[in-house]
Amino acid sequence: MNRKEQEMDRIYVGVFEMFGSPSARGVSAWTHPRSDLTRFHDVAHWVDLARTLDEAGFDWLFFADSFGYPTVGGQMVDAAARWGINFPLLDPQLLLPILAANTRDIGLVVTETTGLHHPFETARRFATLDHLADGRVGMNVVTGSIQNVVADLFGHERMREHDMRYDMAQEYLDLARRYWEESWEDGALVQDPSTPVYADPARLHRIEHDGRFYRSSGYLTVDPSPQRTPVIFQAGSSGRGKEFAAANADCVLLQSADPAQMAANIADIRARAAAHGRDPRSIRVVATQSFFVAEDARDAQRLRDQFRDAQTIEVAAAMFVSNTGIDLLALDPDKPLSQVPLDDVVGQMGQSNIDRFVGPDGEGPTVAEILEQLRVRGIRGSQIVGTPEQVVDRIEDLLAATDLDGFMLDPLFGGEDVRDFARLVMPELRRRGRIPEAGVGGTLRERLFAADTATPRL
Ligand SMILES: Cc1cc2nc3c(=O)[nH]c(=O)nc-3n(C[C@H](O)[C@H](O)[C@H](O)COP(=O)(O)O)c2cc1C
Repeated sequence: MNRKEQEMDRIYVGVFEMFGSPSARGVSAWTHPRSDLTRFHDVAHWVDLARTLDEAGFDWLFFADSFGYPTVGGQMVDAAARWGINFPLLDPQLLLPILAANTRDIGLVVTETTGLHHPFETARRFATLDHLADGRVGMNVVTGSIQNVVADLFGHERMREHDMRYDMAQEYLDLARRYWEESWEDGALVQDPSTPVYADPARLHRIEHDGRFYRSSGYLTVDPSPQRTPVIFQAGSSGRGKEFAAANADCVLLQSADPAQMAANIADIRARAAAHGRDPRSIRVVATQSFFVAEDARDAQRLRDQFRDAQTIEVAAAMFVSNTGIDLLALDPDKPLSQVPLDDVVGQMGQSNIDRFVGPDGEGPTVAEILEQLRVRGIRGSQIVGTPEQVVDRIEDLLAATDLDGFMLDPLFGGEDVRDFARLVMPELRRRGRIPEAGVGGTLRERLFAADTATPRL
């Protein structure tokens, strides 16, 4: 088998985390004795987790981020504070250099919300991070959830519309990319004490940009990092979000849903990528996925049951309002979601969690059914339960049914889930030839695209 064929079977495995928010994603599990979700202030907790993942051969550790918390009518809902839903949430970009210094191979992916900083500032910050992490940095580009709160916090006159946020994001990323790719030629950093020449002025280029949202001219004040442009992750699943992902992303994140729906989504993203002149197979598409795994299937089921019993409607509803602007608890429980009119908030925040429950004809589950689904499965959805062999069988079924390139483990109870997965499932994936030995090395871009390119760069 040649290298390319081997790579066909290779899947990519990341881990989803948030720096805080013990009830992230509308999941309530931090009160369970298994959970360590309240230990997030402890640097040793993160270093230990990152090292475990690095040694087990995970491809990346991912930090989501957001500036908002659940509100109704401008007020934070009580459940957000009482349960810790997107609140408190610390800045994960500040964790990255610490994790980089304490790991060797694993990719470190962190979220950047567009529209809040100037793209030059982002280009400088991520170039710095990529230097400090020796080329292992990924940037999850989001237009940002909970935009009504973002508008309040940042003093915007009103919330920016959904599609305009993506227009801004495109210009933002284009400008940052010009700074990363064009400002310094290869070899511009000379560092020759004998001449002396530190950087060669002839090989530095001034970027000029005068666009719809941003203006900037000058030079990137950081010399090129190993990857120059960090690996771009993207997770928008609305039509406009998918378009943005297809044009820009190296790695597209989906939330797990029904496999047939996911397969259609993936085919759509790959087709859109082809329409942008990209090789549709050059995009890695992965879905979030939770697991309850134990050597004995009954123990795995017990964990799943305990998790299910801990979930509350209150937390599920608070998460949903923060994603969509829709307060399910204030609606007629016997009617579908189409009872809610779209306005300048609803429909302009996240769309995918509305689309998920509204059929093309406006029909769909009732509000009571939606709440129960969210309570049991959280905002993200799918869970796999069983022994390591059963779990990997289910993963392989999912890959075959969807054309996914891998998945991102969403650990519901926290570190113990990750450790069990590393101990039980990673060796089984490796035994079946799905993942390489740990210690792959290289930049994150090389790690994800080794079959397609031998360069650390775009
Ligand atoms: C795996 C995954 C991770 C995400 N991480 C973030 C995040 O860190 N911050 C954020 O604001 N949105 C995050 N999102 C949400 C999306 O990026 C996007 O904001 C949301 O889907 C709404 O956009 P849309 O209407 O295009 O779908 C994530 C979504 C998924 C599936």
